[in-house]
Amino acid sequence: MEVKNIRLSKSVIGQEEIDAVTQVLKDEYLGMGKYVQKFETELSGFFQRDATLVNTGTAALHLALQCTGVGRGDEVLVQSLTYVACFQAIQATGAKPIACEVVPETLTIDLEDAAQKLNSRTKAIMPVHYAGNVGDLDGIYEFARKYGLRVIEDASHAFGTFYKGRQIGSFGDICCFSLDGIKNITSGEGGVIITDDIKVQKFLKDARLLSVENDTESRFRGTRTWDFDVKHQGWRYHMSNIMAAIGSAQLTKFPVFREKRQSLAKLYQKKLAGHVNLVKCDYNEVVPHIMVIMADPAKRDHLKTVLKDHGIAAGIHYKPNHLLTMFCGNQDNSTLKRTESVYAQLITLPLHPDLSEDNVLFICGIIKGTL
Ligand SMILES: Cc1ncc(COP(=O)(O)O)c(C=O)c1O
Repeated sequence: MEVKNIRLSKSVIGQEEIDAVTQVLKDEYLGMGKYVQKFETELSGFFQRDATLVNTGTAALHLALQCTGVGRGDEVLVQSLTYVACFQAIQATGAKPIACEVVPETLTIDLEDAAQKLNSRTKAIMPVHYAGNVGDLDGIYEFARKYGLRVIEDASHAFGTFYKGRQIGSFGDICCFSLDGIKNITSGEGGVIITDDIKVQKFLKDARLLSVENDTESRFRGTRTWDFDVKHQGWRYHMSNIMAAIGSAQLTKFPVFREKRQSLAKLYQKKLAGHVNLVKCDYNEVVPHIMVIMADPAKRDHLKTVLKDHGIAAGIHYKPNHLLTMFCGNQDNSTLKRTESVYAQLITLPLHPDLSEDNVLFICGIIKGTL
């Protein structure tokens, strides 16, 4: 039996990132300074909108919620099938995450279910661009307009994805990306918030530095603010120069990463069509962070074991949040039949820019031979 060593995901790092970090170390200014300013400017150019860098995607979601005024007593609609980061970020504001169903074809939030869960406490909706797929984003914005909700997009999986010809992050209310080690680009760990809302931008730039007023501007000048005021709750969520240097180097490589992720996903799509259910996705627009398939629940765990025996790492994205102890006590989150049915079928296959086409063919061969 042929046994390989195929990782589910990985950082793809070259000499450029090593040189960039080495330069920061030589400068002996490791915290938030000119490299963060540079990366922020580059990302503003990439999205054609203001960018605020923070130290994780979770921090990005938390700050975005806080800066739009979501807090104690409020509710936020979010799909249960997402990373726990979304639920924790909502909970951290004092608000309650309301777990919603997903549309089985796209694995994005089901607006019919969300509409059932609306009430006077609902302040925001957090659509999750699952696996890079955006679903009915126009419908989500229409829903939000109708009910007066803020939209905090969790685009952690969707760096570089387009929707109807427009790049995610370049439009909409507030868009949050994760830049953790395995995302479409990375800054080691990291996150970025993109918005046109000037009030929110100002709030974000202070709140990431403990809400010390105007500290962002001081640090970008290489100084600190000594005589300052603080008017809001803030956090130590800022990005460091080390992280930003990695991020800048990765951004220049993104066109190559994009091409590789899309072509590998298309190959998976072509080879697996008719054998497993695939997320409905156009990989000319979507830059996938993960490659998710849905297999017969009776065979799913066996398939995962067979893949493991062949040295192929696989994952499950995600255990739905309404099944987690911290969130299951919430009456509104009690049962989500469609989400639970999808969860029983999910398997995530390896996907990263260093994966070869031969490896994809090998993986698809094992899947077809097992199911
Ligand atoms: C859907 C989703 N949201 C939020 C996050 C949180 O991002 P971070 O790990 O950068 O905090 C992740 C990270 O994997 C994610 O997958």
